[in-house]
Amino acid sequence: MVDTIDTSELPEHIAIIMDGNGRWARERDLARIFGHQEGGENVRRITVEARKQGIRYLTLYAFSSENWSRPEDEVQALMKLFSKYLNNELKTFTDNNVRFRVIGDRARLGDELCNLIESLEEQTQQYTGMQLIIAVSY
Ligand code: FPP
Repeated sequence: MVDTIDTSELPEHIAIIMDGNGRWARERDLARIFGHQEGGENVRRITVEARKQGIRYLTLYAFSSENWSRPEDEVQALMKLFSKYLNNELKTFTDNNVRFRVIGDRARLGDELCNLIESLEEQTQQYTGMQLIIAVSY
C-alpha cells in the first residue's frame, strides 16, 4: 500500500480526521451509513499499516461534539458501529502490540460504551508498539 514511502522520514505521530464517509456513499448512491461502515473498516487497515511502518502514535478524530446534532438515527448508527468496533478489535491490538486509548468527552457516550472503552484500554495498556488514540465527542 505505501511501498513508495521513505520510511526513514515518517513522523512519530499521525492524526487523521475521519471525513468523507457521506461523500463516499453519495458517489455510490448509497445511504450515508454505508459510508460510515466503510470508514469504520478503514480504521483497522490504517491501524495495521501505521504500526507496520513504525508510527508511534495514531490519532483518529472519529466523532466531534458537533456531530451530536446529526439526525438521531445517524448518531445511533455511529454509536452502534463504535460499539461493534470495540467488541471486535482486541485481537488486532494484541496481534500488533497496539495500545488503545480514547480522548474526548466520553461520558456523553453512556455507560455501556464507557465500560467497553475502559475494558479495552485496560486490556491493551501493556502494549508498546503503537498507541491508537480515538477522539470522540471532542
Ligand atoms: C464524517 O463523515 C465521519 C463521521 C461523522 C463519523 C466517523 C465515525 C465512524 C465511522 C464511527 C466508527 C468509529 C470507529 C472508531 C470505528 P461525514 O459524514 O462528515 O462525511 P462527509 O464529509 O462526506 O459528509
